[in-house]
Amino acid sequence: MNANRKESIACIVLAAGKGTRMRSRLSKVMHKIGGAPLIAHVLRAVAELSPERIVAVIAPGMADVRSAAKAASEHCLFSIQQEQKGTANAVHAACEHLRGFQGIVLVLYGDTPLITPSTLTRLIEQEADVVVLGMRPEDPTGYGRLVHTASGELQKIVEEKEASAAEKALTLCNSGVMAVRAPQLLALLEQVKPQATNGEYYLTDIVALARQANLSVRVAEGDAAELGGVNTRAQLAEAEAALQQRLRAAAMDDGATLVSPETIFLSFDTILDEDVVVQPHVIFAPGVRVARGAEIRSFSHLEGAVVGENAVVGPFARLRPGTVLEENVHIGNFVELKKTKAARGAKINHLSYVGDAHVGEAANIGAGTITCNYDGLAKHQTTIGAGAFIGSNTSLVAPVTVGKGAIVGAGSVITQDVPADALAVERSSQATKPGGALAWKEKKRKSDGL
Ligand code: UD1
Ligand code: MG
Repeated sequence: MNANRKESIACIVLAAGKGTRMRSRLSKVMHKIGGAPLIAHVLRAVAELSPERIVAVIAPGMADVRSAAKAASEHCLFSIQQEQKGTANAVHAACEHLRGFQGIVLVLYGDTPLITPSTLTRLIEQEADVVVLGMRPEDPTGYGRLVHTASGELQKIVEEKEASAAEKALTLCNSGVMAVRAPQLLALLEQVKPQATNGEYYLTDIVALARQANLSVRVAEGDAAELGGVNTRAQLAEAEAALQQRLRAAAMDDGATLVSPETIFLSFDTILDEDVVVQPHVIFAPGVRVARGAEIRSFSHLEGAVVGENAVVGPFARLRPGTVLEENVHIGNFVELKKTKAARGAKINHLSYVGDAHVGEAANIGAGTITCNYDGLAKHQTTIGAGAFIGSNTSLVAPVTVGKGAIVGAGSVITQDVPADALAVERSSQATKPGGALAWKEKKRKSDGL
């Protein structure tokens, strides 16, 4: 197989397994790392090869896996494996979409999320009928072992369950990724027999079958760090750690300063432009873009948000989906924003909730301001004009508009629109009695006998 020949590629991603070892109600491939399901990572890596077809094999009822796969790869086709009778049986199910296909079939497992396009490319560049991607993990427990002949040719793959002590001692393991010529794959799958131990049809058996048929079989070795399978919660955590390391390194290569990288969590799609500074302990959930020169301070959580150039966010800020901050906006501590656009230079610096709102250019929102956007039935919009000043501890009962340049007095509950340049104060008037404190204390002393 040689990529220079421009052979077409079909990818099969197996995702029908029960994932028993996860002990979860969720399908294994729906567990997330870097903010996206395991299967989405595999499909995104695969898409880089521009395959002619992509087929995901799922089990009946896996609607969530289907929609996650579609979201990651819109041309993904699906095959249903009726019963989880093993990886060969799963690949067999996918063959319904390979009719007439003569190129290279790349088989991947949906639980191996860190695989990179460059490794896949190396695999399909090998000249052989069957190519297995091998690896040498630090701990080979649970992986199939690659058994070679004395002359160094791959003879078969033995699953750990069926391996002898000598085979278990082998360090070269099966990553699960294989590249097989389409016509040969179909012929080999037909010959796989169920295991005596558990009745499963193992894809790994096609290696020995290929050797018997005198087909050419090769091993390409890959980096174990990107080929780890996720079968348990502990492996899920390991995969998350490895992905985070990769995402952090890429963010720094792209020109962002991560003050303490190991404390910053990124999503698969986080974009940090040049000269962004991220202080320690910040979480970027999916859908965040931060523009040049912005600073995200410690203990902030951002999701589905755009942060403009030179904006400052945090410490302790929460940006929820639909937040758009233009350049030089300042969002301070204990401020939560949702579906809110803050125009250039606006400031919301302390202890506020602003949701379903538009905050005009250079408007200043005082400490403790709350948009009361929900009336128990529906959400409503708040609009604050450019240069408006909202005094501390104001409740803005939506739907409501405060015009540009207007001032709202501290402590007001604003239920009616405030016109541009108006001053609105809504609170009971203050009563001040000179010497009243002394008189009150005297009265208390007498009544309480102090
Ligand atoms: C498999 C390989 C093993 C390899 C390891 C790498 C086999 C028999 N074993 O073991 O050699 O070292 O991966 O991570 O292939 N699946 C289905 N239908 C099924 C069974 C599984 O779609 O009937 C899917 C699963 O969803 C999963 C993938 O195939 O994504 C692999 O299955 P899994 O049970 O995780 O196999 P491993 O025991 O990890
Ligand atoms: Mg596995």
